[in-house]
Amino acid sequence: MTRRLFIAGNWKMHKGPNDALDLANALKRELVDQTAVDVAVAPPTISIPSVAERLKHTGIAIAGQNINEHTHGAFTGEVSSEMLRESGCEYVLVGHSERRSLFGETDETINAKVHAAFRAGLLPILCIGETLAQRESGEAESIVANQLERGLVGLSTDQVAATTIAYEPVWAIGTGLTATPDQAQSMHNHIRCSLGSSHPSFVAKQIRIQYGGSVKPHNAASLLSQPDIDGALVGGASLNADNFVAIITAGANLRS
Ligand code: PGA
Repeated sequence: MTRRLFIAGNWKMHKGPNDALDLANALKRELVDQTAVDVAVAPPTISIPSVAERLKHTGIAIAGQNINEHTHGAFTGEVSSEMLRESGCEYVLVGHSERRSLFGETDETINAKVHAAFRAGLLPILCIGETLAQRESGEAESIVANQLERGLVGLSTDQVAATTIAYEPVWAIGTGLTATPDQAQSMHNHIRCSLGSSHPSFVAKQIRIQYGGSVKPHNAASLLSQPDIDGALVGGASLNADNFVAIITAGANLRS
């Protein structure tokens, strides 16, 4: 089975409404004929409505970077999945390592957010990955399998299959260090096998697993050509239209 590559740009806390529109305009221009790869961008929440409006009907989907697990209520500063959906999002990142390490998100909160995403009709991109210390102590595979299992608790089989997993080794995020294609492929295969052991076989075949962590134009093709790598979650390189387009083109060339 060939899974469509899915490349998403995580803008993190960069690009307020004006800069976000400039970047959206450039992507719209450059990607107008691009249909080989699924593409999404995750602007900061404040920039989502204008970017969503600008990228309407372009095939570039919008993702939120985070949601609160509740529908509404007295949660100052938070945004619900329903609100993101209303603003034009199709996807939402859940459990990014920065959310886990800087904002104390646990697997339980992350699982509640995954459920909240589906409740509102958003597709979650569930981020998982080990730290350097965990990799060096030989725990990487068990940590990742654990995050995966706990993040997906209570979902229907179809919901699991519709989730995107982003494997992002924490030591590779924003550091310029990338997992080698072999390291990444080996973990992606482990993730797919873990899913295969706890869900019907179509889930493991269908689910898309993105790699994230210093994906750049020069390493995109070697990562994306691995059999179990179905796309990329791109941070720093997605802030520059030329770099992000080059990564998408690398994926598109592999599929043509
Ligand atoms: P990076 O970030 O590409 O800058 O390493 C990836 C991410 O955090 O999703």
